[in-house]
Parts: sequence; C-alpha cells; structure tokens
Amino acid sequence: MRYIFLLFLFGILSAAFIIDDTYFKISKKDVMLKIPKGFPKPFYRFEKNKITPEGFILGRQLFYDPILSKDSTVSCATCHQRFAAFAHIDHALSHGIDGAIGTRNVSALQNLIWKDTYMWDGGINHLEVQPINPITSQVEMSESLEHNISKLRSNKDYVLLFKNAFGDTVINSQRMLKALAQFTGLMISSNARYDKYMSGKDTFSSAEKNGLKLFREKCADCHKEPLFTDNSYRNNGLKPDSSLMDKGRGKITGSGKDDYAFKVPSLRNVALTHPYMHDGRFKKLSEVLNHYANSEKYFAGADSALYKIGQLNDMERKDIVAFLLTLTDKEFVFDRRFADPNVQVSK
Ligand code: HEC
Ligand code: HEC
Repeated sequence: MRYIFLLFLFGILSAAFIIDDTYFKISKKDVMLKIPKGFPKPFYRFEKNKITPEGFILGRQLFYDPILSKDSTVSCATCHQRFAAFAHIDHALSHGIDGAIGTRNVSALQNLIWKDTYMWDGGINHLEVQPINPITSQVEMSESLEHNISKLRSNKDYVLLFKNAFGDTVINSQRMLKALAQFTGLMISSNARYDKYMSGKDTFSSAEKNGLKLFREKCADCHKEPLFTDNSYRNNGLKPDSSLMDKGRGKITGSGKDDYAFKVPSLRNVALTHPYMHDGRFKKLSEVLNHYANSEKYFAGADSALYKIGQLNDMERKDIVAFLLTLTDKEFVFDRRFADPNVQVSK
C-alpha cells in the first residue's frame, strides 16, 4: 500500500516538474503568426523582422526586465500587467520611476499589429519605435537608449540571448526594438466568447444578444468589429480634465479640429482594463454608459456619431454591459507564452 502511495506521489511530482520545464519553452509553432478569421490584413507584417522562438524569448525577457529603466525598478510589465490584458488595473494615470505619475491611463496591449498608430493621440506610427517613448520618458523609465544598450552589452545573459536571436553578439537598439516587437506583436486576442459565438461555437443569453444588437446600432460606428476600433480619433464628448488639459490628437496635428479627440480604444477585454478613458476617469462600465446616455452633458465638439445613442434605459445599459463582458479572452490572458519567465510557476 505504502509502495503504491509513493509511486503515486512520484507520479504527481514528476508531472509537476514536466509542466514547470515546458511552461516557458517557446517552439516554432508558438511563434507562428496566425491571422484570426475575419480580421483584416495587419499593418505590421514582420517582413523585415522575422519572428523566431529566440527573438520572441529575447523580447519577452526585455519586456519583463526592469533593467531598461534608470534605477532598475520599472519594467514594461510594471505598467502593462498580463492579467489586465496588459493594461494597469486600478491606476487612473500611469505610475513610473520614483513614483512619478504620468498623464494618461495605461493602454491595454493587444492586436497591436492592426494599429497604424499608437498611443491615445496616435503620436507614434511604428510598433518598433514605440518603446523608445516609455524608455526615455522622465515619468516612466527615464533612461537613454545608449545607456540601456551598454547595460545589455555588459550582461552575460543578454549577450547570449542576442546571439541566439540574431546569430552574433552584436547588441544595438535596432535589435532590441525588433525583439520587443516580436513579443508585443504576437499579443493577439481573438478567442473571447464573442468570437466563439460569431463562429457558432458558443451561444449568447438573450441579454447578451440584445446587448450586441444595441452595440451594433449605437457604438459600432467607432468601436468597429472585429477589432472594436476603427483606428480613428474622435471626441466622445468627455469634458477635459481641468488639471491635465490634454488636447489629445490636437497636440500632434496642431489642428484645432482635432482638439480633445482620442484614439478609439478597442473594447476587447474591456472588463479587465479598468479604469476607463485616456485619463482613467471612470472606474466602472456602468459609469461609461451613464456618460454616453447623457448627450446634454457632452462636451463641445462631440462626434456626431454619438447622437445615435440616445437615452438608454436600465435594461439596455445592463444588456450592453453583458455583451461587453463577452469580449473577455481568458485564453489570451492566461496564454503561457506571455507569462513572466522569471517567475516560477507552481502548478
Ligand atoms: C510607467 C508606465 C509604463 C511603462 C513602464 C511602459 N508603458 Fe507602455 N504605455 C503606458 C501608457 C500610459 C500608455 C499610453 C500612453 C499615451 O497614450 O500617451 C502606453 C502605451 C503603450 C503602447 C501603445 C498601445 C496602443 O494601443 O496604442 C505600447 C505598444 C506600449 N505602451 C508598450 C510598452 C513597452 C514595450 C514598454 C517597455 C519598453 C512600455 N510600454 C513601458 C505606460 C507604460
Ligand atoms: C464617436 C465615436 C464613439 C462612439 C459612437 C462610441 N465610442 Fe466609446 N469611445 C470612443 C473614444 C474616442 C473613446 C476614448 C475617449 C477618451 O479616452 O477620451 C471611447 C472609449 C470607450 C470606452 C473606454 C475604453 C477604455 O479602454 O478606456 C468604453 C468602455 C466605450 N468607449 C464604450 C462605448 C459604448 C458601449 C458605446 C455605445 C453605447 C460607445 N463606446 C460609443 C469613441 C466612441
């Protein structure tokens, strides 16, 4: 009896060991780019940045490593938390080095290769260039690219990781940025219940069905399926925060007509990415719906598409929220490929 028990225990332990061992492994199959059914052609196509398991592993390590910040306290993942679809739960404005508070709410990271511009104001137009912004920002990582490269060059682990990824030990910012893009570019969310419903693999409750119908009538002009954004900049009627006075897109184009317009955010995983809006002013989806349903409170210049929404009764609001919850993609959030490789998994 005792013998059988020991054998049983050994079985469990070795199974746990095997899971640990394979959890962070990245195979060729893991890095194959699959365009989900119904998604358009991506803007970023990896043509000049072929994804390899080794390149992806390097990108993952860089993403999770505070080495990229001035005092080694802040990594990309400090602000972009996996369980929040890589947004930052509960923080209205981003928190960077030395407790510095930024001016915007942390964006979720998902389906980035379908974006032609990045940030709430679209100030950056290339996935590979984007990380320069947080790295050099005084309120985020506050570091120079040159100094980061010299830190990586004198780190034995990185010398090996770059060699594995690029064939030789040259470490430069171009390679660093390409590796980061291999990692972030593969963050694709397309397995929510909504997607399963659309492909006939799941069913919706009547509230969810009604929510989808209302959403298509009132919201989908801007939050266009299947990405839930049309990549445009719109003024959705929010009164600007008087301390931030963030002009959004207007700051980039210098054109008054773009003032207070912001990039339409995707609503995929929206249940996980609270608080909401560029300044994180709303904690709950019910507050968001309350805003949209009160057109008399819209700020000047509100987009004409908003006036379709009209008043929403309690039931309609609940149904829209029920639909929004179907956009949560657990497979994406728990995808082991995007887990922090420096944290031991106990499974
Ligand atoms: C201190 C917090 C912080 C850190 C650290 C940080 N980010 Fe961000 N990230 C943000 C905020 C805030 C935004 C939105 C900024 C804006 O719109 O001005 C953002 C936006 C982005 C976007 C654009 C998303 C979109 O849909 O437009 C990408 C991509 C991104 N970050 C990747 C990274 C990477 C890679 C790193 C590490 C090199 C990083 N971030 C480090 C806070 C942070
Ligand atoms: C005119 C275009 C437009 C329409 C119509 C519209 N939205 Fe938005 N939505 C936006 C923009 C732009 C933002 C970001 C605004 C900002 O941060 O200043 C946004 C933000 C949001 C957010 C916050 C997401 C986040 O990650 O912070 C939610 C949730 C949302 N909208 C839901 C809806 C719903 C539900 C409807 C329909 C009732 C709707 N929207 C209709 C343009 C629109």
